[in-house]
Amino acid sequence: MIQVVYASRSAVPLGDQLTMLSAIQAVSYRRNAERSITGFLINDGQLFYQALEGPGSGVAALLDRIRQDPRHSDMRVLAESSIQVRGFAEWSMVSWMRTAATLGIFARHGLSDRLDLRSVQASRVLALARDLQACETAVRRPRSFRASVKPRALATR
Ligand SMILES: Cc1cc2nc3c(=O)[nH]c(=O)nc-3n(C[C@H](O)[C@H](O)[C@H](O)COP(=O)(O)O)c2cc1C
Repeated sequence: MIQVVYASRSAVPLGDQLTMLSAIQAVSYRRNAERSITGFLINDGQLFYQALEGPGSGVAALLDRIRQDPRHSDMRVLAESSIQVRGFAEWSMVSWMRTAATLGIFARHGLSDRLDLRSVQASRVLALARDLQACETAVRRPRSFRASVKPRALATR
């Protein structure tokens, strides 16, 4: 299996980001589960950060498709690693936006909306996602909801 982390620049106006993210989330959640791909997508208002993990050919094909998507540009792969264990096994796709509630978490990882795409590091993106996940798990999502959204293709392994 491989894990790829990338950053890109959103091409959608700020006011439309949430609608866009919801649309991407809805498609990705289903499609990624079908392909045994897990990961997350973060939108900070200007930049996207995404990690995708799963079989090498599946992740590569998905990245090719995402790269063509006009809703973002300047996709920059920050890291590609061979993995034995998934870092985000629980989600075929989970997305977070930078909101008033999560502002502090983004700031703690030095990922602000004025960041230069070239200075983003994969390790920071992964650490940010782990913190957002912990916050989500602890505060925002009751256990029953987490269990019910577990993708079937992955849950049956
Ligand atoms: C930043 C970003 C991340 C995306 N992530 C995924 C993803 O993880 N899985 C996925 O199926 N589509 C993802 N998409 C959407 C794809 O680009 C594409 O629109 C979608 O898979 C539908 O493909 P189709 O038009 O070939 O049916 C993403 C799009 C963007 C802009």
